Amino acid sequence: MATHSRKILVTSALPYANGPLHLGHMVEYIQTDIWVRFQKLRGHQCIYVCADDAHGTPIMLRAQQDGVSPEQLIERIGAEHRADFADFLVRFDNYYTTHSPENRHFAELIYHRLSEGGHIVQRVITQAYDPVKQLFLPDRFIKGECPRCGAADQYGDSCEVCGATYSPTDLKNPRSALSGAVPIEKESLHYFFKLGDFEDMLKGWVRGEHVQEQMANKLEEWFKAGLQEWDISRDAPYWGFEMPDAPGKYFYVWLDAPIGYMASFKNYCARTGLDFDEFWRHDSEAELYHFIGKDIAYFHTLFWPAMLDGAGFRKPGAVFCHGFLTVNGLKMSKSRGTFIKARTYLEQLRPEYLRYYFATKLNDRIDDLDLNLEDFQQRVNSDLVGKLVNIASRSAGFISRRFGGRLAVSLAEPELYQDFVTAGAAIAQAYERREFSRAMREIMALADRANQYIDERKPWVLARQDGQDGQVQAVCSMGLNLFRVLMLYLKPVLPQVAAQVEAFLQVPPLCWDDLQQPLLDHAIAPFTPLMQRVENGQIAAMLAASQENLAVTRAPAGPAGLLASQPIAPPITLDEFMKVDLRVARIVEAAAVEGADKLVQLTLDLGGETRRVFAGIKSAYRPEELQGRLTVMVANLAPRKMRFGVSEGMVLAANADSGIYLLGVDAGAEPGMRVR
Ligand code: 2FM
Ligand code: ZN
Repeated sequence: MATHSRKILVTSALPYANGPLHLGHMVEYIQTDIWVRFQKLRGHQCIYVCADDAHGTPIMLRAQQDGVSPEQLIERIGAEHRADFADFLVRFDNYYTTHSPENRHFAELIYHRLSEGGHIVQRVITQAYDPVKQLFLPDRFIKGECPRCGAADQYGDSCEVCGATYSPTDLKNPRSALSGAVPIEKESLHYFFKLGDFEDMLKGWVRGEHVQEQMANKLEEWFKAGLQEWDISRDAPYWGFEMPDAPGKYFYVWLDAPIGYMASFKNYCARTGLDFDEFWRHDSEAELYHFIGKDIAYFHTLFWPAMLDGAGFRKPGAVFCHGFLTVNGLKMSKSRGTFIKARTYLEQLRPEYLRYYFATKLNDRIDDLDLNLEDFQQRVNSDLVGKLVNIASRSAGFISRRFGGRLAVSLAEPELYQDFVTAGAAIAQAYERREFSRAMREIMALADRANQYIDERKPWVLARQDGQDGQVQAVCSMGLNLFRVLMLYLKPVLPQVAAQVEAFLQVPPLCWDDLQQPLLDHAIAPFTPLMQRVENGQIAAMLAASQENLAVTRAPAGPAGLLASQPIAPPITLDEFMKVDLRVARIVEAAAVEGADKLVQLTLDLGGETRRVFAGIKSAYRPEELQGRLTVMVANLAPRKMRFGVSEGMVLAANADSGIYLLGVDAGAEPGMRVR
């Protein structure tokens, strides 16, 4: 047990206030919440803050689309987020919003200090501007043809077909994704944060083991590529904080988002009287940890520590990255019904099932984790219902019925109890290091031993024998004491079950120190079932509801909506079309391309000929799931030299904002068959 109480401040990434939470989000909040609850259980002061990320162009546009003010939108979404978190038992000490006076204060303060330190420069830049909507277009809101390979309908920052990255001004035939208008180029003054000023500091910080090893390697690459100046201003109209002394200029959402961690904490301090500076002054000895997804590591491991350092605040003690969630081995997909909203899950299933399942999968690495729904059901039913709850339900009845609810005065097997207590050290270490899967394995091994103990002693047989009353009470009291230890170990993961158990055992909230003292000569309440099995129907209903969600949300966009953003091209003659030689191809091999975010390298069998093709479909498919599939390819496309090699053709896929869908061919078709 820890000898002194630590002071720890913990954050999870701030979710954008423009849409509902889904199970992918929940990985992070559940991971953080378990860790925080563990620290609290150990008796440490551990404060968990978060907030909605309430600024930026997408939120502004979404509010316009919904016909409400941004304030109304973020209010509504904020309330939904809070409810989802509460129902998933994610217990923040403070949940706030970045659109707050505290956040404005700290954003201005940090900006001023960086500016005074000479770390802000101004420069005029040229950007795409939508003359109809009258706003500067973020890269993601411009579409056009790739300047390198000519692929149509590519975003303004990179090409999903050839993997080229470029600036939106390089796109051919660019269009605003908002109005369809041809963007014009317009100059404007921007403010930049000189990240390079902090290179040495950041290199030292990374060496200090503040990031996981996998991240440190990534950072090495970023340092090699060179730290660029970061554009922190946006022009009106923008939804955010107007910059002090710069009318019409706003802080870019990513500037004030991490500052939202401080602002939420400040708001908490005002509520509780805690000392803000003790946690944030440059020489603070309090611990500060950020849990984030791997996609936002750049912001948290470079910009954020640099901003803090430049403004005279302390740097994070660690940034803990996790991977993405897949469902049944694949990316979450709306069409498969595996894009599951937090609320859709909660309508069918108890939050602790998922908390436990994630715990069995989580570790300290950045790898993706999979929610396999069959495995999920089986795990929960066998571990939680079959093993854990079973220990209590087999012991409790005898104690209630035959001993007036009273536990024995001494332990039948003190050594066994001691083994359970001793195992706590390894379990605590696993929790501390975020190796939850190891902690769960250790706990379930103990649950097996507890069940084995009861199986061997057979209280139900003893109960039928004369003169064995004392034995029955001893065995069942032992079983319940082992159960109590297991529940204590699982309390960070299963807080509500733990509360039910505390009520059943008639004890105050369990804390780690309680291990030392078994529960003896103590009256317990009658046992009531703690947890039900997960049924097939619940999972099926959840998947069906996720597909329904899609139908509802897609309907208003409709085909007409898509046609507006992807206009039909000018007519061609049949002869022209016939020049395109389309063939059935079998994907015999698919592999990720090192260094390309969007590309998959495909080896295609054309029925006697093999082709290598690069396809920009990685955002929608994992390479493994592509192997063996039949698809359609353009077989007579001239080979194109790309950054990663020569592409000998092109596979066909439907491609829009809502996703990428590779064309399939009905079973029975042969590779090489002509398609027309
Ligand atoms: O990527 C996101 O969803 C951001 N809203 C995360 C912000 S985390 C922090 F920096 F505010
Ligand atoms: Zn391209």
